[in-house]
Amino acid sequence: MVILVTGGAGYIGSHTSIALLKAGYSVIIADNFCNSRPEMIKKIEQIAKKKVVFYEVDVTVEQAVYQIFSEHQIDGVIHFAGLKAVGESVEKPLEYYSNNIVSTLVLAKICRKFGVDKFVFSSSATVYGDNTVPFVETMDLLPTTNPYGETKAMSERILTDFARANPSFSVSLLRYFNPVGAHESGLIGEISNGIPKNLMPCITQVAKGRLESLRVFGNDFSTADGTGVRDYIHVMDLAEGHVSALEHLTQGVHIYNLGTGKGTSVLELIKAFEIANGISIPYEFVDRRLGDISECYADISKAQCELDWLAKRDIVTMCRDAWRFERNIDE
Ligand code: NAD
Ligand code: UD1
Repeated sequence: MVILVTGGAGYIGSHTSIALLKAGYSVIIADNFCNSRPEMIKKIEQIAKKKVVFYEVDVTVEQAVYQIFSEHQIDGVIHFAGLKAVGESVEKPLEYYSNNIVSTLVLAKICRKFGVDKFVFSSSATVYGDNTVPFVETMDLLPTTNPYGETKAMSERILTDFARANPSFSVSLLRYFNPVGAHESGLIGEISNGIPKNLMPCITQVAKGRLESLRVFGNDFSTADGTGVRDYIHVMDLAEGHVSALEHLTQGVHIYNLGTGKGTSVLELIKAFEIANGISIPYEFVDRRLGDISECYADISKAQCELDWLAKRDIVTMCRDAWRFERNIDE
């Protein structure tokens, strides 16, 4: 089977491309490198010991996507390409709506034109808003506080309506929780542009000595130790979840949480990092970050039961792999 991976040079797309190649799929990557680097393609090939076909294109450009489909017999699409920085989406809403929505529309349209009926979409747990944990796929979605989250909720609706109107279409909407870690080779991982915002990249910056101490946003949440709780998932578990989603894809719309089902607090993640890597992470408590919810973790029973998939890597492994990659980066 030939899979088109949009955004395949990015963090999750690169790890998923490796998992797909390992599982015997052929991979075509389409990426415009707006948030990744060309050398990722070589690294994917080096790790998987297989070649990928690569197109440097913007997937919002219909003609460019059309060309890829006309040059290859594509069996399915995994659509990762998108802008993902929550804060930036508040400052640049038009760029976010345009990139994230138009790419989904263009891909769906071209899939229809070429009769490609397998589609997997990168959604986010952010669509649950401030629901009660654990988040279950059947919950009503609550408004998100930013354009990024809205583009995910809208793309889910677009693909759902499209599948309703085209019964042969099969779509899996995957709601990721908090992906962290890196491939165990240490060759690929998450490259932050500028000052990182997410917790794990901030911890590794402290470990590198680039930040003096970690700012812990709030210690008065209604959680066991007062700090925010999230469902961190190793990026390779997430990658393997995509292979399972493709393998179990049937007609209609299917929504799955991809998480571990376990909540970890900020202080617990710091502790796990210290244990995994033998490095002390100094921290200080500061005010809560605007828009942060206290707890976010998945009910994972649907993915476990229907996709026969379960995240295997624990929090210490996530911290060890994140650090192995980060300390090797030459910038
Ligand atoms: P990433 O930025 O590392 O990867 C996205 C890739 O898409 C990049 O390589 C970028 O260059 C490419 N891209 C963006 N717009 C494009 C376009 N118009 N045409 C071609 N290429 C384009 O991000 P990621 O962390 O790998 O996330 C992948 C997907 O998963 C995104 O849609 C993101 O919103 C979603 N997601 C990510 C997280 C997370 O925490 N990383 C959580 C939930 C959902
Ligand atoms: C953020 C995004 C979310 C996205 C997710 C995954 C926001 C509001 N939400 O979620 O849409 O899907 O990333 O990438 O940005 N923390 C600190 N100090 C730091 C950084 C974070 O204490 O320097 C805390 C946060 O308050 C939170 C936890 O660590 O409790 C995790 O934060 P983060 O990694 O940014 O992820 P989310 O907030 O879950």
